[in-house]
Amino acid sequence: MTSYADFHRRSLQDRDGFWAEQAKLIDWHTPFSQVCDNSRPPFTRWFVGGTTNLCHNAVDRHVPTRGAQNALIFVSTETNQERIYCYADLHAEVQRMAAILLELGVKKGDRVLVYMPMIPEAAFAMLACARIGALHSVVFGGFASVSLASRIDDSEPVVVVSADAGSRGGKVVPYKGLLDEAIQLAAHKPAKVLMVDRGLAPFPRAAGRDVDYAPMREKHLNTKVPCVWVDSTHPSYTLYTSGTTGKPKGVQRDTGGYAVALAASMKHIFLGNPGETYFSTSDIGWVVGHSYIVYGPLLYGMATIMYEGLPIRPDAAIWWSLVEKYKVTSMFSAPTAVRVLKKQDPAALTRHDLSSLRALFLAGEPLDEPTAKWIAESLGKPIIDNYWQTETGWPILALCNGVEPQRSKFGSTGKPVYGYDVKLIDENTGQELTAPNQKGVVVIEGPLPPGCMQTLWRDDDRFVKTYWSSVPGRQVYSTFDWGIRDEDGYIFILGRTDDVINVAGHRLGTREIEESISSHPNVAEVAVVGVADQLKGQVAMAFAVLKDPGQSDTPEKALKLEGAIMKVVDEQLGAVARPSRVRFVTVLPKTRSGKLLRRAIQAVCEGRDPGDLTTIEDPSALQQVKDLVAG
Ligand code: PRX
Repeated sequence: MTSYADFHRRSLQDRDGFWAEQAKLIDWHTPFSQVCDNSRPPFTRWFVGGTTNLCHNAVDRHVPTRGAQNALIFVSTETNQERIYCYADLHAEVQRMAAILLELGVKKGDRVLVYMPMIPEAAFAMLACARIGALHSVVFGGFASVSLASRIDDSEPVVVVSADAGSRGGKVVPYKGLLDEAIQLAAHKPAKVLMVDRGLAPFPRAAGRDVDYAPMREKHLNTKVPCVWVDSTHPSYTLYTSGTTGKPKGVQRDTGGYAVALAASMKHIFLGNPGETYFSTSDIGWVVGHSYIVYGPLLYGMATIMYEGLPIRPDAAIWWSLVEKYKVTSMFSAPTAVRVLKKQDPAALTRHDLSSLRALFLAGEPLDEPTAKWIAESLGKPIIDNYWQTETGWPILALCNGVEPQRSKFGSTGKPVYGYDVKLIDENTGQELTAPNQKGVVVIEGPLPPGCMQTLWRDDDRFVKTYWSSVPGRQVYSTFDWGIRDEDGYIFILGRTDDVINVAGHRLGTREIEESISSHPNVAEVAVVGVADQLKGQVAMAFAVLKDPGQSDTPEKALKLEGAIMKVVDEQLGAVARPSRVRFVTVLPKTRSGKLLRRAIQAVCEGRDPGDLTTIEDPSALQQVKDLVAG
């Protein structure tokens, strides 16, 4: 067996040889002539000259050998449905969806926005786009009209695929109404809206624009749509994520590099084998859903479970009953979900036969030690924390136990994954920190490995300025996370260096929330910070200065206004972005040059020392925050 250290070293020192080998995990229509073209950094191109197709690799190529094998297992505890699609079924469904999209005018390179609950048609839509060379842009169903409108305007979709409603904890969430509102708000108007009618919430159809999926599917029941061979570098999708500014960033992914990276990760990181079953509890609206509900497992010939519902409904045994029923071998979830389970009867976790399960992978937010220990003991299985980002599409740090089994350390997200040259740098000097146990910014020396972002959609400039300018003159990618490395090379992630927060594993920008709150007519100014929370990891906390302070001068008035402001956020961005509290102050803590002292506000909210305050304009401002938090 190769040692992991050698494996990692080779991935960097013999980059082309290493990735050429991994590239054998997928089918190429035309072989590539160059593995890595980094002649125009940071715009790295992978498998140049090669042509392939993501849908062919995820679906078609498995049909001859495993056509009758489970491919997509859909379970909804919201609508009490369970549907299994074998690879042959999936192949047929994806072609039907592709035929519909073609009829609606979608062409290679066009964007299709997918705003859907966790139903199989969402996966069909994604795969159908890949099949015809169109780019999907999935927007998380928890986002409301303003968030959706800004994504419609940035991606300019020809078609939107949506559904009447989702359901959460038995409560119907009407997607179509939010979508109609978003289209009204957006400057760009999609030509067609394809609607899956689940019969959950009646909705009006816009004449000439809205098209029902069911009759179209009937019409195309037997239509065959061949895969369009695209260049390896052809963009496969965009996925919006939050950053420091309010404007969401359209992370753009390629085709060949992504397919290779994901297939390889199934083998080396996620301990999968073709023919087995993989269960990721994420949502298709997030990067984990893209990579590890849809593409990764299917690319590797595995069955994937798509679950609509809560982890504790009907009870905390639901996920584990699926593990038993479908003999899940690898499972992927988020620490928040584990913390929710922790409040339930632990017996629910072991009521079922979990013998098929090799490991539980967790990612998306810090995994605290008590939670990690609790779940490891309750399941009696290895817990593998892994760290990555929407931008990278697959893990940066993990334990690659598929290469060589390694000891895990509580609190650490593991070691740099093959292909990633991870370093820590000093925030101020940009100097590399080579000694152990020093806190620095986690960066990746370029080029990034295959599968990571190509650029930001239609914004090369922002891509370069945002991610590649922390060390002038060098091709260094910043993750915007703090980290520390111990003597054994294990890295511990300590949180974001920027204004991005992580609420229950959902990545949100505090600026987006601030912009939304500022649209309330009585808000003059607002600061939103992320504050540590036992259950959700972090919650958003808002401090607002009012135009008319009289509206919060009694506790009743303040409470009413707080509710009204939260409603604005719910309606514009979605309940995921709602701050846990909106408090009112007369002045915000700022430096003398007018910069908001967010880190100081955050520290005070978390009961920590706010640090150096010599530049503060008005010390009483921070005192107000302190008093509110104490009260
Ligand atoms: O701050 C890090 C945190 O989540 C951010 C990325 O979020 P997102 O783009 O939604 O991608 C999630 C993919 C799993 C990171 O910058 N983060 C992610 N994983 C971990 C983490 N923080 C601590 N531990 C992790 N395992």
